[in-house]
Amino acid sequence: MTDETVSKSPPANSPPPPAPHKRRVRYSGRNPRRFEEKYKELKRDDVTIAKVMSAGKTPAGTHRPIMVAEILTALAPQPGDIAVDCTLGYGGHAQEILAKISPGGKLLGLDHDPIELPKTEARLRALGFDENVFTTHRSNFAGLPQVLAAQNIPGADMILADLGVSSMQIDDPTRGFSVKHDGPLDMRMNPQRGQPVSALLEKIKPADLARMLMGNADEPKAVQLGAALAGKSFTTTHELADAIRAALPLVAKEDCHLHIRRVFQAVRIAVNDEFSALETLLRILPQCLKPNGRVAILTFHSGEDRRVKKSFIEGRAAGIYSEIADEVIRAAPTERNFNPRSVSAKLRWARRTAE
Ligand SMILES: C[S@@+](CC[C@H](N)C(=O)[O-])C[C@H]1O[C@@H](n2cnc3c(N)ncnc32)[C@H](O)[C@@H]1O
Repeated sequence: MTDETVSKSPPANSPPPPAPHKRRVRYSGRNPRRFEEKYKELKRDDVTIAKVMSAGKTPAGTHRPIMVAEILTALAPQPGDIAVDCTLGYGGHAQEILAKISPGGKLLGLDHDPIELPKTEARLRALGFDENVFTTHRSNFAGLPQVLAAQNIPGADMILADLGVSSMQIDDPTRGFSVKHDGPLDMRMNPQRGQPVSALLEKIKPADLARMLMGNADEPKAVQLGAALAGKSFTTTHELADAIRAALPLVAKEDCHLHIRRVFQAVRIAVNDEFSALETLLRILPQCLKPNGRVAILTFHSGEDRRVKKSFIEGRAAGIYSEIADEVIRAAPTERNFNPRSVSAKLRWARRTAE
């Protein structure tokens, strides 16, 4: 009996047994339908990720940082600097800044997304950035003064904000940001606060929705869409997209996606209170920067860029900033080809006066 057991164990120096054969995942239908099945690269295998990126796409579950070189030039990180990334996301920009401020520097990464933040923290820890050089803070960037005070940091050498949503948030259908995949109509970056888009649309009045569509996304058919969508109950992103198409019978099919994109942008800005968070950040920035400290802000639509531009121009006139970007900085053509999400990006920077 015992002999039988012994004779079955391999000798100590024998090669390991081959891994059990795994059958290819079977999907119902011809193609995978579920997000997790569709995006093999979610398993984060390096070869698959490299293949997806070389095809000009962003691997699911990741985010490609935009205008990295331009941001590093604007922020000029040096060893020993204190940096704040207000919008940590996947940590792409943070990773590059961390490499430049070491040794002796520290980066505080803020994000209000409780789903992605722990994943990014784990990713950067695995790259060797420990608590002494990199800390994460689940906070709206409007609360930056409190985050700095809790860390006994009187001011930062540089602050970065890369506004809007990450590719991970957009690509995850359970978050309800994208019309590409059907999902619950939510769109909150922090699902623990506020109301989902479905609740907002159910309660809002047509005139208020029209104002929101115009103010948040310059939607030319704001009145028509406000009347068609306000007070209605939509459960999923596809239901809302279908209702937008139905409300615009005279718009050619191929042009409908622009209206859909603008409506999605406008309601996303509303449920996340994006403009008031940005306005607060712009107001508190000078007190969060050391003398000569630098700030860089990446925006993705005119409502954001207008606010940043106005604040930097007024700050320079008031003697708060000694220098600001003369012109808005856009992604280079090579980056635009490689990463379509960079096409609408605008970068502005400012430097606090020396005092
Ligand atoms: C465009 S992504 C940033 C990507 C990041 N720069 C990178 O390289 O991976 C924007 C991130 O900012 C976060 N965010 C947006 N508004 C925020 C706010 N008011 N406070 C804190 N985080 C915010 C989002 O949750 C998202 O993760």
